[in-house]
Amino acid sequence: MEHVATMAWALGASGVWDRGTEATVVWFTDMDIEDQPQTGAALVNAASTVALDTPTFRWTQEEQRDWQAEWKASIGPLDAGGFHLVPSWLDDVTTPDGMIRIIQDPGQAFGSGHHATTVMCMELLSERAEPLTGVATVDVGCGTGVLAIGAALLGAAPVTAVDIDAEAVDVARENCVANGVDVRTFTGSAAELLTDGPVPLVLANLVTDTLIQLADDLAALVAPGGTIIVSGIASHRADEPLDALEAHGLVRVSQRNRDGWTAAQLERRP
Ligand SMILES: C[S@@+](CC[C@H](N)C(=O)[O-])C[C@H]1O[C@@H](n2cnc3c(N)ncnc32)[C@H](O)[C@@H]1O
Repeated sequence: MEHVATMAWALGASGVWDRGTEATVVWFTDMDIEDQPQTGAALVNAASTVALDTPTFRWTQEEQRDWQAEWKASIGPLDAGGFHLVPSWLDDVTTPDGMIRIIQDPGQAFGSGHHATTVMCMELLSERAEPLTGVATVDVGCGTGVLAIGAALLGAAPVTAVDIDAEAVDVARENCVANGVDVRTFTGSAAELLTDGPVPLVLANLVTDTLIQLADDLAALVAPGGTIIVSGIASHRADEPLDALEAHGLVRVSQRNRDGWTAAQLERRP
């Protein structure tokens, strides 16, 4: 849950393990006992903004448990469309012929690329019928940069990736270097990208409310004949951001759902 992760890092967490719909584990290696009620309340509050049911919360003190190691051990390489996502600590893993390898180090950015919202974007990206060679692309809310890197590896250029979280931008920059791609990265959002004008491909894996808030700017970023791939939409609210984008002249061309999340592709007619 991105909201919980963002709040946890802001509260000084040592690690965050998003276990999908099941739970989000947050660990602190150094915390004063009197800070716990306030920290717990902030995490529950963050979770309640996106949860369907009232989130439950539990503190445990685990003297000997290495959550970081458990989290890393839980993540393996993953196929997402034509991409083979490989955590940086498993870089000796062989990528199958025909797959495009992306090395990912999540750092303090969103996920390892394994989240359903990311995987659906990667699938939509690799299923595009038209080649991406030389197609100007922007990634709004880049997190680790995985979508921008995927687009760049498919030949998109120039590629620009932005995030409002400066630490995520640092992580994205490092991942771009690790994957040998040329992606412009900066801290910002859709509004800053608009100064360069619309582009043929926009990638935006954000959360439902952010997509609604940014619908105007995101739609303006899509050039005539261009495409936007959006994700991070809670499926039970899918029509809200998609209708908002359609109100700005975009047309839904495909939609898919996984684990309670929706991703969609919309186009602006030429
Ligand atoms: C769900 S994560 C997606 C990360 C990555 N694109 C992926 O697919 O794995 C959403 C990212 O959007 C960023 N974000 C949230 N609100 C934003 C905004 N208004 N403008 C730009 N980025 C934003 C968050 O910091 C987070 O890194």
